[in-house]
Amino acid sequence: MKENKKQKKYLIRTYGCQMNEHDSEKISWILENMNYIETENIEEADFIIYNTCLVRENAEVKVYGNLGALKQLKRKKPNLMIAVCGCMMQREEVRNVITTKHKHVDIIFGTHNIHKLPQLINNHLQTGETIVDIIEDSREIVENIDSNRKYSYKAFVNIMYGCNNFCTYCIVPYTRGREISRKPENIIREIKELAESGCKEVTLLGQNVNSYGKTLEEDYDFVDLLKDINIVEGIERIRFMTSHPKDLSDKLIEAYGSLDKLCEHLHLPVQSGSNRVLKEMNRNYTKEDYLKIINKLKKVAPNIAITTDIIVGFPGETEEDFNDTLDLVKEVKFDSAFTFLYSIREGTKAANMGNQIDDKVKHNRFQRLSDTLNSISLEINQKLIGDTLEVLVEEVSKNNPDVLTGRTRTSKIVHFKGDESLIGTIVNVKIENVKTFTLEGSLV
Ligand code: 5AD
Ligand code: SF4
Repeated sequence: MKENKKQKKYLIRTYGCQMNEHDSEKISWILENMNYIETENIEEADFIIYNTCLVRENAEVKVYGNLGALKQLKRKKPNLMIAVCGCMMQREEVRNVITTKHKHVDIIFGTHNIHKLPQLINNHLQTGETIVDIIEDSREIVENIDSNRKYSYKAFVNIMYGCNNFCTYCIVPYTRGREISRKPENIIREIKELAESGCKEVTLLGQNVNSYGKTLEEDYDFVDLLKDINIVEGIERIRFMTSHPKDLSDKLIEAYGSLDKLCEHLHLPVQSGSNRVLKEMNRNYTKEDYLKIINKLKKVAPNIAITTDIIVGFPGETEEDFNDTLDLVKEVKFDSAFTFLYSIREGTKAANMGNQIDDKVKHNRFQRLSDTLNSISLEINQKLIGDTLEVLVEEVSKNNPDVLTGRTRTSKIVHFKGDESLIGTIVNVKIENVKTFTLEGSLV
């Protein structure tokens, strides 16, 4: 879009997970339809939006800090409009802090009403009041919002919203509401349109994609959806996020052997290797169940990469429980993992559990876990030296303009020399060097 002087500029800061990143792409699409254009420069923005998170460590603190800093900017530029949205806003106590301590915020909205943004902006502009609009939970999916996607060759696609699992540490069921699946025809239509505009890779998003379909009238599940996406012309890679081990079906495991576009990567959060802790977390599977799934998967797809999420220092976690986690990590041999220090989320069951773990103990375990994970990641990557892998070229490396970065089907980052014109194409790269988190090689 060409810049014209009257056009207002917006800036979005996104915290947290891919679901939030994708919500920001939708907000961006809405604003560009209202003739706003994006800027990265906070000083020249007319509208600043913070899309917030409650899951990631410190995200909450950062948002309050950044909002504080905007007070000055608004003093200099009184017409600056500020909105805060996302998971944090679904909590009443957070909204109270913002409306009392951060009165310079103009619009507060939540995770279920992004589509109402134009109306909220108008309400604010007409009344000059702070507009607070929150829907606690929604049984409706609004289908007519598109996304202003960052990349043309890869895209996030929501397939379901919300979560019914109530893991005892997790705030998501309270901020994203109950599980609801998008109709398959709407998902397929979106993916066909993406493919027509050059998209090669889709990542299907949902808090628990394995239970996709449960709220549909028809008998249609996640694997049925994968099969239908697998035949969309132009799409070459299918990924998804996130799965819950308790719902991971044999049908999905078999799909890794039969669907050629399904990438050989599964992100399967285990959270802990101790059956006692898993029970306290309300995860509904045991360490043995998890290992059984991994073994079956490796039989069907021997090169599959397994990644996970692990929480360290859940209330009551003993040294023995933690050692069970280390043992599981060594047995599964995760390609990589997101590790989290347990932290209290007010309103969840675990927040009120006794035996909260001392910070020092948590940090010590976190370090030991990271060391174990890192040495396994490096060991797995070393075995790839000499292999030729298929890479979707994503962008020019931030550190070196002659180097491109891309991802293998197993979702590993690869650096190699090549021309910018290769971005968005699929190439073969021979791996020559590896590090803990990245591979290096040459085009073949
Ligand atoms: N403390 C620490 N980690 C958490 N996660 C979710 N809630 C908490 C919490 N209260 C982690 C889980 C989840 C990931 C997205 O965030 O590992 O899978
Ligand atoms: Fe949170 Fe558990 Fe739902 Fe994942 S499955 S979003 S961890 S409650």
